[in-house]
Amino acid sequence: MTYTNATAVAERSARSGPWWREAVVYQVYIRSFADGSGDGIGDIAGLRSRLGYLSDLGVDGIWINPWYRSPMADGGYDVTDYFDIDPVFGTLDGADEFISACHEHGIRVIVDLVPNHTSNQHPWFKEALAAPPGSPARARYWFRPGRGDGGEEPPNDWRSRFEFVGSAWTRVHETDGTPGEWYLHLFTPEQPDLNWGNREVTEEFRSILRFWLGLGVDGFRVDAAPGLAKDPDTSHLGYWDRDEVHEIYRKWRRLIDSHPGEQQFVAEACQIGPDRVANYVRPDELHTAFSIDFLWCEWDAGRLRAVIDNTLSTLGAVGAPATWVLSNHGAVRHVSRYGRTSTGGVDLLLGTRRARAAALLLLALPGCAYIYQGDELGLWQVRSETGDPRDGCRVPLPWSGEQPPFGFSPPDASAACWLGQPSAWSEITAERQTGDQVSMLELYRRALKIRRAHPALGDGSLAWDDGAPPGVLSFTREPGFRCMVNLSAENVQLPLHDWLLPSSALESDLLLPPDSAVWLADGESPTS
Ligand code: GLC
Repeated sequence: MTYTNATAVAERSARSGPWWREAVVYQVYIRSFADGSGDGIGDIAGLRSRLGYLSDLGVDGIWINPWYRSPMADGGYDVTDYFDIDPVFGTLDGADEFISACHEHGIRVIVDLVPNHTSNQHPWFKEALAAPPGSPARARYWFRPGRGDGGEEPPNDWRSRFEFVGSAWTRVHETDGTPGEWYLHLFTPEQPDLNWGNREVTEEFRSILRFWLGLGVDGFRVDAAPGLAKDPDTSHLGYWDRDEVHEIYRKWRRLIDSHPGEQQFVAEACQIGPDRVANYVRPDELHTAFSIDFLWCEWDAGRLRAVIDNTLSTLGAVGAPATWVLSNHGAVRHVSRYGRTSTGGVDLLLGTRRARAAALLLLALPGCAYIYQGDELGLWQVRSETGDPRDGCRVPLPWSGEQPPFGFSPPDASAACWLGQPSAWSEITAERQTGDQVSMLELYRRALKIRRAHPALGDGSLAWDDGAPPGVLSFTREPGFRCMVNLSAENVQLPLHDWLLPSSALESDLLLPPDSAVWLADGESPTS
């Protein structure tokens, strides 16, 4: 059954809130989305050729992971030129045309902004290395003398946010070849941290924001948002989520508000509690921030409800919508997470069933939802062949055909995919799933269609049904919508309803099986 209530659709389109309060955004890890040039690496041409797929899916926008010039020491989060596209992905003209093509398809474009650090190959950092201690070129970063007699100890005890890196400081050689100062990097040594107390840095990023706004982007995803303010000389205060960081975002908000149109910032503000995340989305700061707690929450009704309540109440208190997400380019794919067994293995069937239910939960909650590329195909985590365990969720998408590269690259490609794809993905290519009503892809398509049409979905609030059996999340949204997710081990009785969309086969019209979800229309006469 599909939702075809004409009044509801009309009501929905009459809503006037800003798009970013309820957007469904598809995260594109461009390197792994689609390869147009045949070098085995995803690019703008490939992405552009799949815009029809994204508009059929029914998303409102895309967020593209960094596509700027970069030596790719950290998947493009190490930028050498914020005003240009890396040649592996295309050209600036190509990006400009691509943004217009997205708009023609009704798809908004959010680009990734990496303000905490540059690449160590950025001209500014090269200049800093060639300049003496105390110089203006070094003042754009955090250079400090070491501790100890010969300065051989790092300036303080800060650790990189990447465990494998260790100290957040790396020592440089001065131009005469002697061991010299140390520089700060909250991530890898290839990502030196910028000094946001430096005027040139703040001005440069104002130019970067204006440049991309000028090309028509609809927003920015702010990488490592809590990291920008720090003072290594008072190291006891730490480097994450300091209050001064908010002044930067207030200025950015004024800049974006002065630009015509309705653009947004979405913050990556992880490893801080929802009460602290709320500070980033106060009315004069960034617009939205991911709920990473939701992503990491186990498949447990009580815990999920606590995360949802906490997120809605803390963000609601500052008037911001929530932003739900199940997977991203740095997390184990949720099919695999939800399928973890007590013996440490992964039950992919179980994980997939839960992922279907989770998709309906995600899209029914108030606010925005981000879908990571491949979520809609039910992709699972792959054992990474590279040194980076995160690459297991970055495997190129399977589009069509019976064997790798599954249409990821053109037939005459000159190189293999940059990461190998499991042969079992022949069963879950986009082509194979299209038109198969029990596939993950068709579940997403139908859910997104209903979400677009139904006046209860998107921005707003929810009311829990406290009479629901233990292990069941059940909530209503007005007008006339109910979502039920069964995380218990028993079948659950459904209330009187007209069902809109179940995530899995129902036991009967009245029984919801374990690890499944359903969307119901309350008290409406049947629609079909
Ligand atoms: C964020 C990104 C991650 C990147 C890091 C450094 O955490 O999600 O991919 O490695 O920032 O820029």
